[in-house]
Amino acid sequence: MKVDVLLGLQWGDEGKGKIVDVLAPQYQVVARFQGGPNAGHTLEFDGFKHVLHQIPSGIFRPEIKNIIGNGLVLDPIVLKKEIEGLAKYNLPLQQNLFISKKAAIIIPTHRLLDAAYEQAKGDAKIGSTLRGIGPAYQDKVARQGLRMGDIVSPGFKEKYERLVNQHKVVLDFYKYDYEAALTEAEATFFEATEFLKQYNFVDTEYLVNESLEAGETVLAEGAQGSLLDIDFGSYPFVTSSNTTTAGACTGLGLSPRRIGEVYGIFKAYCTRVGSGPFPTELFDEEGERMRQEGREFGSTTGRPRRCGWLDLPALKYAIMINGVTQLVMMKVDVLNIFDEIKICTHYQMPDGTLTDRFPYDLCHNDVTPVYKTMKGWATSLENLHTYDELPTELAAYINFLEAELQLPISFISTGPDREAIIHREAQVV
Ligand code: GDP
Ligand code: IMO
Ligand code: MG
Repeated sequence: MKVDVLLGLQWGDEGKGKIVDVLAPQYQVVARFQGGPNAGHTLEFDGFKHVLHQIPSGIFRPEIKNIIGNGLVLDPIVLKKEIEGLAKYNLPLQQNLFISKKAAIIIPTHRLLDAAYEQAKGDAKIGSTLRGIGPAYQDKVARQGLRMGDIVSPGFKEKYERLVNQHKVVLDFYKYDYEAALTEAEATFFEATEFLKQYNFVDTEYLVNESLEAGETVLAEGAQGSLLDIDFGSYPFVTSSNTTTAGACTGLGLSPRRIGEVYGIFKAYCTRVGSGPFPTELFDEEGERMRQEGREFGSTTGRPRRCGWLDLPALKYAIMINGVTQLVMMKVDVLNIFDEIKICTHYQMPDGTLTDRFPYDLCHNDVTPVYKTMKGWATSLENLHTYDELPTELAAYINFLEAELQLPISFISTGPDREAIIHREAQVV
């Protein structure tokens, strides 16, 4: 059996949570492979709206095994809150949630360090979610971090103290006032680690590979987006993990030969939270209308998301890095309000040349997007369930994108609810 991978092709918040939820009935296992509480994946169904941060988006289907892979950095305090927040749904989490013993732990000082680093950067700050992601991955790579398996091992408290003492030296260096915040968070942290002991801590690499051997289907759920990837994103304005397909292999213990379909999720326009280059960003009233219509405010931090037109050079780059096999286009309904739709096909570089590549020096050079303008459909898409019912202008938009991207757009999402989705039968592009 193969593992299908589902990930974001832009700067995050593409709508991954919704599509995992839509596809979940086809799978027996859903596994998150990287990131942590910086993610906010929204699911809407039966009048409920729920945002997941660290728990995989298959959790609402009790028959599915939900795996938190080794590639994550997990905050026990957030995980406890997430589990408690799910109590009202009566889900069998002790049976269907599996936490990798090898997942890295975010401890309270990681969050404080995240804040201290950002403060010290001033205007050059990354705009991180302040969830401690960068410092936790830093300790993992420095081979001094704690892992979830340590919670149930002797000596956990001593390992914790050793790490905190190191962090205090750094916090002192940055003159960051941490005492009160740390005392409060530490008590909550140890309550949370005790609480979590009732759940399954396993070697998830065995679980996922044995599930495959037993003929089960597996969906790997990415967090963030490809342009936030630590290696391929708009560095240094990125997150600290590999958000791309390769991350599914290292974040779950899978051979690359196991990868099957790669679902690339993208919005019909672009958004970004936090700092960093964003070539098609709109600073005018059009951008504001997009933000309001798309309710573009962060699921994790509530920050307004920066908005702009679809960026094909960036999308082509993300498709290449990920080996995408099928595209899923989200939030098409948000463009109902525009008479004209723009698509960036190229960048004009400072020396006047045109390119459809994602430039290395995007952070230092202003590139000017070159747009193609198409007629908008300017009508509601509510209650449309088949491709044939789509307005002709939208069909033309989709055909143009498929020809440019050389891939089929297999799903078109027209609203936040689970039901607002149009599945297009396989097309040859
Ligand atoms: P994720 O991080 O990729 O899972 O995405 P988020 O949940 O952070 O952000 C996507 C937002 O768009 C959520 O509020 C979703 O409920 C909403 N959403 C998802 N698909 C659609 C859609 O097709 N149309 C509209 N209008 N909203 C959508
Ligand atoms: P989901 O999974 C959108 C952004 C932050 C910041 C940068 C680094 O919901 O799509 P970090 O806290 O990771 O050190 O922040 O990455 N960022 C996201 N933006 N969606 C996310 O997750 C994000 N996770 C991190 O805003 O710019
Ligand atoms: Mg999100």
